Amino acid sequence: MTSTGDSLSVDHIARAKTAALEAIGKASSLDALKEVKIHHVGDKSELAKANQALGKMEPTDRAEFGKVIGQAKTVVADAFDDRQGVLEKERDTKVLIEERVDVSIAARRTPKGGLHPLTVLTNEICDLFLGLGYRVAEGPELEAEWLNFDVLNIPADHPARTMQDTFFIEPLDSHLVLRTHTSPVQARTMLTQDPPIYVICPGRTYRADELDATHTPVFSQVEGLVIDKGITMADLKGTLDYFARAVFGPDVKTRLRPSFFPFTEPSAEVDFYFNGRWIEWGGCGMVNPKVLVACGIDPEEYSGFAFGMGLERTLMVRHGITDMHDIVEGDIRFTQAFGTGVK
Ligand code: PHE
Repeated sequence: MTSTGDSLSVDHIARAKTAALEAIGKASSLDALKEVKIHHVGDKSELAKANQALGKMEPTDRAEFGKVIGQAKTVVADAFDDRQGVLEKERDTKVLIEERVDVSIAARRTPKGGLHPLTVLTNEICDLFLGLGYRVAEGPELEAEWLNFDVLNIPADHPARTMQDTFFIEPLDSHLVLRTHTSPVQARTMLTQDPPIYVICPGRTYRADELDATHTPVFSQVEGLVIDKGITMADLKGTLDYFARAVFGPDVKTRLRPSFFPFTEPSAEVDFYFNGRWIEWGGCGMVNPKVLVACGIDPEEYSGFAFGMGLERTLMVRHGITDMHDIVEGDIRFTQAFGTGVK
């Protein structure tokens, strides 16, 4: 066998093969193996070049060298495939270990949060009255003393003004209080809007009470106010009946008991009959003409009614909650029991 110079000696081919096998054996990653392919297996490898040079050989030599080169190429290609197979397997095993998902592990759930039952009740009541054509009105919890009291015909010597009931804000000559009821929102509405007025006013209210099973110094009320032509106590009673049935169920009954509020005349307590007993719900009455005048509304032309009830009490009765602490403490186990979204 003759040679056509250095590039096509049998030795040269053997060296190229050995070099290729060595490089393949040393490649420790698929990336490294890719490099090896370029130099030792692909079109630019020594063996490929030798193969190309075959064309220039004497036909007698070509067959022999062709066989040597072909064998070398096959050996290298097989070694390459084997190595590639091994490295791919290694990579797959590594991926499986590194990206393992333990499907048996306990799921970590982030609580979604939810609405407090009081908020849910408030929304329910607002929706109910919006459906009757009312608007929702709100006012500040830090209220001017004259809107909380004076405008509502609560004179300066009224017991509701003593320190016992009201949180006064210092300095006292600021004449600010934490509102003791939602009725100042009535006044604010009448002072800023012309009749007809149909509003429902939910909100937080404050009185200097100790927190116990049935009292809380921070509580919530909902106030209703209607001012229109020809409004009578029958409208008030009908509205309260509708309200009570929506909140406590279709069988609930209401009754009015004579009472006194400076801002309504006549005034009444509204009770409802639920689970076999009469329960006090809130106050109500026809808006006192003095209040209408103080708010710039002509009592000769308009009349109206107002009502106000405590939301905590409403919630407690409806759901059989016996301790006020449960409502105010914010323990989500309480909220969860109402199924309002805390999961
Ligand atoms: N504001 C009164 C209270 O807090 C309730 C009430 C509202 C009474 C409207 C009559 C009319 O006790």
